[in-house]
Amino acid sequence: MKSETASMKGKVCLVTGASSGIGKEIAKGLARTGATAVMVGRNRQRAEAARDEIIGETANDSVELMISDFSSFDAVRRLAADFKGRHARLDVLVNNAGTIPAKLELSADGYEMQFAVNHLAYFLLTNLLLGTIKASAPARIVNTASGVHTRGRIDFDNLRGENRYGFLRAYGRSKLANILFTYELAGRLEGTGVTVNCFTPGMTKTDLGRYLRGVSGFFFRRMGRSPGEGAETAIYLATSPDVAGVTGKYFADCREARSSEASHDAATAKRLWEFSEKATGLS
Ligand SMILES: NC(=O)c1ccc[n+]([C@@H]2O[C@H](COP(=O)([O-])OP(=O)(O)OC[C@H]3O[C@@H](n4cnc5c(N)ncnc54)[C@H](OP(=O)(O)O)[C@@H]3O)[C@@H](O)[C@H]2O)c1
Repeated sequence: MKSETASMKGKVCLVTGASSGIGKEIAKGLARTGATAVMVGRNRQRAEAARDEIIGETANDSVELMISDFSSFDAVRRLAADFKGRHARLDVLVNNAGTIPAKLELSADGYEMQFAVNHLAYFLLTNLLLGTIKASAPARIVNTASGVHTRGRIDFDNLRGENRYGFLRAYGRSKLANILFTYELAGRLEGTGVTVNCFTPGMTKTDLGRYLRGVSGFFFRRMGRSPGEGAETAIYLATSPDVAGVTGKYFADCREARSSEASHDAATAKRLWEFSEKATGLS
């Protein structure tokens, strides 16, 4: 159920993981509203091709590209500093970049890769840009989570690859972290005019399973909805007047949905926040 999107002319939106899949379609949808769309990609060639496609399809020339690899906190810090050097405002931040390595990988800072890219980078980038976002209020933050969060558990003693790795368990953990982060941040942003919500795109045909073999990789490549359909809820949350003032919620198909019991555990959300603050050097 898609609702009308408002004109976003004069607004600045930043989308991570915008070089392909759902993120590219989110950036395209935001560019269509007339906003300045700042795309963040990792691979310059892929990201430039995506930017050219978006400019071609939307006729909006205000589509910018920034390159950052979220497997390093230093790179996230450089991205935030570069963005603030270019823009005085940020009306919409969409944290969307994601990865699923088949085997255990560690980030440059020594964290399990999915936890680092899919959660810690969202956490660090958001916090580094929060001053700019608050100064642009009313403003919105949207986090791409997943229905697979129900498979996750925040095992604080296994965030650096200490125990056996399972790609689905690690993915579920990172996506549960997205929701816990959203709910905790919403509480912290009360009264600021900044809202934060998360959503599941539903099973979507993208490159997310590119490192997975067999059935799992096949599922991501072939099963589910189109990336454009997967992006609809994010564009709705970023732009629709229907959800102005709505915060701290989980959405599916442009409707509020119920996330797992574990995602509502306020003590875990607070502990994850404090852990993430220390890990990223924010405290
Ligand atoms: N597809 C689904 O069924 C599904 C379902 C639920 C949730 N999601 C979520 O949707 C989001 C987007 O995924 P997608 O399905 O659209 O997959 P995708 O096509 O693989 O897109 C992932 C994006 O993240 C970027 N990325 C990956 N690792 C990165 C890193 N280390 N640093 C910076 N950027 C990085 C990729 O950049 P490169 O182009 O350089 O690789 C790409 O732009 C993810 O958060 C995922 O968890 C997807």
